[in-house]
Amino acid sequence: MKVLITGANGMVAKATIKNCKEKGDIVFAYSRQDLDISNRENVLKVFEQNKPDAVINCAAYTNVDGAETDQEISYRANALGVENLALASKKLDCAFVTISTDYVFDGTKGDFYTQRDTPNPQGLYAKHKLEGERKAQNAYARSIIVRTGWIYGEGGTNFLSVMHKFLAEGKGINAISDSFGTPTYSEDLAKRLRELVILDLPCIYHVSNTGNGVSFSGFAKEICKILEVDKNTVNEVSDRDLNRPAPRPIDSRLKCLFSEKFGLEPLPNWKIALKIFLSK
Ligand SMILES: NC(=O)c1ccc[n+]([C@@H]2O[C@H](COP(=O)([O-])OP(=O)(O)OC[C@H]3O[C@@H](n4cnc5c(N)ncnc54)[C@H](OP(=O)(O)O)[C@@H]3O)[C@@H](O)[C@H]2O)c1
Repeated sequence: MKVLITGANGMVAKATIKNCKEKGDIVFAYSRQDLDISNRENVLKVFEQNKPDAVINCAAYTNVDGAETDQEISYRANALGVENLALASKKLDCAFVTISTDYVFDGTKGDFYTQRDTPNPQGLYAKHKLEGERKAQNAYARSIIVRTGWIYGEGGTNFLSVMHKFLAEGKGINAISDSFGTPTYSEDLAKRLRELVILDLPCIYHVSNTGNGVSFSGFAKEICKILEVDKNTVNEVSDRDLNRPAPRPIDSRLKCLFSEKFGLEPLPNWKIALKIFLSK
């Protein structure tokens, strides 16, 4: 299969490129420098050059706080860029998968979010990502949308990588105890993205590692447990104390209504996935 992957320098893209190559795909990987997805003309040109069977969009403007000021850049990548890719995929009649976020929900449900829940994004990043979902669906009915959250893995800056650095330096870490999500290992996500390409059943999927979800401080303590570090190095703080520019959902745990019904295996439990990642 010929797979075109965007945002090639990003964390999820790296895992996706690796997985597709391992599965024997011919991979066309484009970083932002090589293909800015907000440029419709270039997108079409690259698609026509490569004639992919499938496109996996890992490109996005992911600075949640930055989007509050860099509104135009965020909108162009997260909404218009996704539409450009969907339109070009339609023109070439190829499978199209794009990644969205748990942040499309407001976090007030107090339970797992499924596809039955109506999005209510709070910050601009989240609003633009939801707009991207809708533009993809309107432009190309074959679009597959993957909502995910709390991703960690190789080659990315995220909560886990920051924590790892602090622990290595013998420092303690502040972790939010009143914000909950479902962690997602980039390698598990990457495998699922390819499985969804092959399934080719267009809809919105919720993809994360399984289990009951966890708070940031719970996640941090699990890391300490696996690495055999004193869990007292984790100092619990409240989301309210951080005063970040963008609002975030306090509980954005995800569950999927479709994956298992469509014959897909549940992803590993988040504690097992975390252990596998940390052992590498
Ligand atoms: N990380 C998470 O916890 C999380 C949670 C929920 C959903 N997601 C979603 O998962 C997907 C992958 O995220 P990630 O964690 O891998 O993010 P990432 O590491 O920030 O990678 C995103 C990549 O997209 C590139 N990019 C930005 N604007 C672009 C544009 N206009 N055209 C082409 N490429 C562009 C970036 O390039 P530069 O760095 O050069 O700007 C970066 O290499 C995104 O859709 C994100 O919204 C992530």
